[in-house]
Amino acid sequence: MKEQLLELSKQRRSIYALGRHLTQTPDEIADLVKKDIKLAPTAFNSQTTRAVILFNDKHEQLWDIVAKRLKSEVPSEEAYQKTLQKINAFKAAFGTVLYYTDMDTVHQLENDFPLYADNFYDWSEQGQGNAQFAVWTSLAENGIGANLQHYNPLIDDLVKEAFEIPDGWRLRAQMDFGQLKVTLATKNSWTTIFALKF
Ligand SMILES: Cc1cc2nc3c(=O)[nH]c(=O)nc-3n(C[C@H](O)[C@H](O)[C@H](O)COP(=O)(O)O)c2cc1C
Repeated sequence: MKEQLLELSKQRRSIYALGRHLTQTPDEIADLVKKDIKLAPTAFNSQTTRAVILFNDKHEQLWDIVAKRLKSEVPSEEAYQKTLQKINAFKAAFGTVLYYTDMDTVHQLENDFPLYADNFYDWSEQGQGNAQFAVWTSLAENGIGANLQHYNPLIDDLVKEAFEIPDGWRLRAQMDFGQLKVTLATKNSWTTIFALKF
C-alpha cells in the first residue's frame, strides 16, 4: 500500500512554537489554502467553508483583539498574564487562517432539500473538518507549522467589524501558522510536543 498521505499526516501536528521566517510568500500560502479548501469534500458539493487569511498587521490585529477581549473573561491578573503569553505565541506566528461557514448557503440548502434540512449544518461542520485537515497537512508538507484555536464566539463581532466579514458567515476556528521552531526529529517525540503545549 502507498503511505504517502500517512507520512504527511505524521508531519501534521499541533505546533505552538512558531516564527516568521518562511521561504514562502503570503500569495503562495494563500493559494495553497484556497486550493485545499476548494478540493475538500462537502455534502452536495455545497462548498460551505470560507477562509480569511491574515498576514502582517492584520494577523497581529487579530491576536490583539483576542487579548483585549479575554481581559474581561479571565478571573485574575495572574491568569490573564498566562493567557497573554499564549496569545503572544500565536501572534508571533507568520499568519492566521480564519475558518468560516457560509450560513446563507447552509440555509438555502435547508430550504431546497427539506428532507435533509436537519443535516446541513452538521454536514457543514464535517466539511470544515475536511478543509482544516487538508490545509493543516498541506502546510506541514511545506515545512510550515500550525495549530488550531477556538476563540469564537467570544471574538466574532469584533473580528467581523475589523475585517469586514459578510453577515452570513459564522466563525468556526482560527489556525495560526508559521516557521517551525523545533526540528522535525524533535517534533516526532510526543514528550516534547506535550511539553510545548499550553
Ligand atoms: C475540532 C478540533 C478542535 C481543536 N481545538 C483546539 C483548541 O482550541 N486549541 C488547541 O490548542 N488545540 C486544539 N485542537 C488540536 C488538538 O488538541 C490536537 O490536534 C490533538 O491533541 C492531537 O495533537 P496533534 O495535533 O499534535 O496531532 C483541536 C483539534 C480539533 C480537531
